[in-house]
Amino acid sequence: MPVITTIDDLKRLHKRRAPKMFYDYAESGSWTEQTFRENSTDFDLIRLRQRVAVDMSDRSTAATLIGTDVAMPLALAPVGLTGMQCADGEIKAARAAEKFGVPYTLSTMSICSIEDVAAHTTQPFWFQLYVMQDEEFVDNIIARAKKAGCSALVLTLDLQILGQRHKDLKNGLTAPPKLTIPTMINLATKWHWGLGMLQTKRRFFGNIVGHAKGVGDASSLSSWTNEQFDLRLDWDKIAKLKEKWGGKLILKGILDAEDAKKAAAIGADAIIVSNHGGRQLDGALSAIRVLPSIAAAVGDRIEVHMDSGIRSGQDMLKALALGAKGVHIGRAYIYGLGAMGEAGVSKALEIIHKELDVTMALCGRRDVRALDRDVLLVPQDFEGSWA
Ligand code: GLV
Repeated sequence: MPVITTIDDLKRLHKRRAPKMFYDYAESGSWTEQTFRENSTDFDLIRLRQRVAVDMSDRSTAATLIGTDVAMPLALAPVGLTGMQCADGEIKAARAAEKFGVPYTLSTMSICSIEDVAAHTTQPFWFQLYVMQDEEFVDNIIARAKKAGCSALVLTLDLQILGQRHKDLKNGLTAPPKLTIPTMINLATKWHWGLGMLQTKRRFFGNIVGHAKGVGDASSLSSWTNEQFDLRLDWDKIAKLKEKWGGKLILKGILDAEDAKKAAAIGADAIIVSNHGGRQLDGALSAIRVLPSIAAAVGDRIEVHMDSGIRSGQDMLKALALGAKGVHIGRAYIYGLGAMGEAGVSKALEIIHKELDVTMALCGRRDVRALDRDVLLVPQDFEGSWA
């Protein structure tokens, strides 16, 4: 077993161990992938301010996210097809999150169902909802999430239409994979993955198959989204969903201060500044670039979180210092899951936590909740002047 010290180490192992179509699914942005790339490279433009001769003892990364105590202000983001990166992937990721003391978010497009994850965990998790045209399906899935004790609904607002990721089309992405010749050749080298999959029954979209009507190809994410997602989603519908849910609500996919103000106005508990990991509108600005203006516009009224591009504890610290109360990671833990299952997700969380803690110390800070812009050196034109 190689010595694993970075999220990138986990990524290399994930690539080796998971079937190409699922690794590529995780590692794609839409169209030219400009936004996907800039989500990470923009973090590199920001530098850290080293301080010395400051007491570094008794450091704390503990915080709260929407009123829940967390070991560090980070949540696992919803990722579609997680249970295809590794057998029973959602259950494994949720267990690693609960052991670490951070929230796990289950995607609507998961392989393990809401009920299945609830049966194999002890802490409440968050549930991410895509709004479908079929109201009965939506009512039903909200009721299922309530019954399973989910403690927040994460409503995704930036995916009514699926952004085109070329690799998924070229690979013929489905869950489970259709056994074409190229897929079979690739699967022949992924025996560890295959053994896991042979031992589980969880190989289909568990929240959908058996629960939704009129789906042409229930194994294909793109047919499902094309046929079912609600193109008419608007702020009135969001307000009605908030009523229906009646619990904590997080709105995901906000990239503009005007939308952030609308989210605050309807009384959501938090927003996630996000461009869906660069998987939706290619050409949009990176999430870290827009974060400061959104935090300035609504940070006193609503909890501002961010995702898209975080691959280290240093990235996390930069986002917190620029106004995020918490961050969400997607790929960073999926690499761990694809590499080593539950232990890999725990490893990803440990790596990020250690990087965050040591960076905080070397910047002369002891409390993650008190991080501010002063720990950073931000280029003057970082946010850019866009007209
Ligand atoms: C779904 O959330 C996706 O980005 O594929």
